[in-house]
Amino acid sequence: MRGTLSVPSDRPFQPIPQAPRISHFANEPNPSYGLEPPIPKPRPNAAPKKDRRAGDRSTRKAAPAADCADCPRLANFRHANQQAYPDWHNGPVPAFGRIEASVLIVGLAPGLKGANQTGRPFTGDYAGDLLYRMLQKYGFAQGNYGATASDGLELCNCRITNAVRCVPPENRPTTDEIKTCNGFLRDEIAAMVKLGALLALGQIAHNAILRALDLKRSASPFRHGARYPLGNGLQLFDSYHCSRYNTNTGRLTEEMFEAVIRDLQKHVSGV
Ligand code: URA
Repeated sequence: MRGTLSVPSDRPFQPIPQAPRISHFANEPNPSYGLEPPIPKPRPNAAPKKDRRAGDRSTRKAAPAADCADCPRLANFRHANQQAYPDWHNGPVPAFGRIEASVLIVGLAPGLKGANQTGRPFTGDYAGDLLYRMLQKYGFAQGNYGATASDGLELCNCRITNAVRCVPPENRPTTDEIKTCNGFLRDEIAAMVKLGALLALGQIAHNAILRALDLKRSASPFRHGARYPLGNGLQLFDSYHCSRYNTNTGRLTEEMFEAVIRDLQKHVSGV
């Protein structure tokens, strides 16, 4: 009969094995039922293996400290902003949304008068007006978006972060800053055990995601509207960044952005 579980009385009850935790990372073995990952042969005098791209895992932190000085130029800019705007957040901007979400949206870096002022990604600037409106329209956010961190807006099954956590001068992080901050994105992704989809807002975010997952860029070049399976059940969606510059110049229209968010929503709801 449907829905009835029958256990043969002559066999002891066997509990269903727990699914192993799946790693998102390309360079980590994923255990599977009955198949143990191969045991590497010890190499004499081998130095402990380091993660080439994101530093030694054992020393990485879950989120940057408020006074993170990993990027001296960004720390100096923060100190200047603390002097000029003492009431602003002026620190690394933490991710917004629940860690149990299945979608992670990755932007570039906090805007000076947006996230750097309010302390929440994409909050208080033009890019956020467009992003949060679309997230509300497609069920990824609920409540009132009031452009402040205390507006009560809630994200639904979605989390937002940036490739670089601190506001950069001229809105342009250097290559070194993007690399230095990548360990935090890597940790963010690792902590999201239900993650199924990532949305990259712009090429820098796209490349930061690939770096954080130890994936080559050549296999999945950034293209607006592109969608790439990254392995381990992850899908990457690409959009041009929803900045004022991109929308003013017509590089990204509202319709183009909406089409990506709609695609993402269809993917997440299994349509
Ligand atoms: N605000 C953010 O937090 N990130 C961006 O990429 C742009 C604005």
